[in-house]
Amino acid sequence: MKIQVSASILSADFTRLGEEIKKCEAAGVDMVHVDVMDGHFVPNISIGLPILEAIRPLTKLPIETHLMITNPWDYVEAFAKAGADIISIQVECYGIPAIKREAHDFTPWSVTKIDAEKMLVDIRKIKAAGKKAVAVLNPATPLCIDGILKEIDGVLMMSVNPGYAGQKFMPEALPKIKELRDNFSKDISIDGGVNGETAPLAVQAGVNILATASYFFGSSNPKELVTNLKKLK
Ligand code: DX5
Ligand code: ZN
Repeated sequence: MKIQVSASILSADFTRLGEEIKKCEAAGVDMVHVDVMDGHFVPNISIGLPILEAIRPLTKLPIETHLMITNPWDYVEAFAKAGADIISIQVECYGIPAIKREAHDFTPWSVTKIDAEKMLVDIRKIKAAGKKAVAVLNPATPLCIDGILKEIDGVLMMSVNPGYAGQKFMPEALPKIKELRDNFSKDISIDGGVNGETAPLAVQAGVNILATASYFFGSSNPKELVTNLKKLK
């Protein structure tokens, strides 16, 4: 499969967001990745609908919204309306048993079983809006997505515990990608700690979309970086 690069604006300069989007285009990235964090699913709070609405008219590149929020069901339609092309929702929100958190507990979420029917309701909402639906798995969540596999457009494997850019790649994601690739021919993305050393491992495992924040926005030659990532086999 052709390798694609998704640039996460989490590491962009927010005072010059329009120029940063143009930088993504000029560098040849395939899509823009918007990390939405609610301060509950993850410890951090980032950006949301108003920023998506602001950047939507600036680019024709597909925009992926990665929803690291506890209650995606309340927001998927709003993100579709605000212009997301791809809406990525975390499977942990649909875990059985449902995760209940104490205040101030930010242990990374993982589940071993999901309520597939519940998640399918939201996947169908996304698709009814004409958008692509992607299922996201945290590093410690095993492959538990058989019940939704036929209806999703892609799987995004987290290779860091979500919440921040610039973290170290967690190789736990790799065996899951290999196993999934054996019976899943649609998009498999990886997100977290992608760089010149880790991207080849992800591609060898079966990934076709590489999401990157700090590696891309920290580069002095983003065009060359993207060209090299796209050459990986
Ligand atoms: C992590 C986000 C990632 C993050 C990646 O919570 O979902 O998209 O921005 O950042 P890097 O590429 O710096 O690891
Ligand atoms: Zn992300």
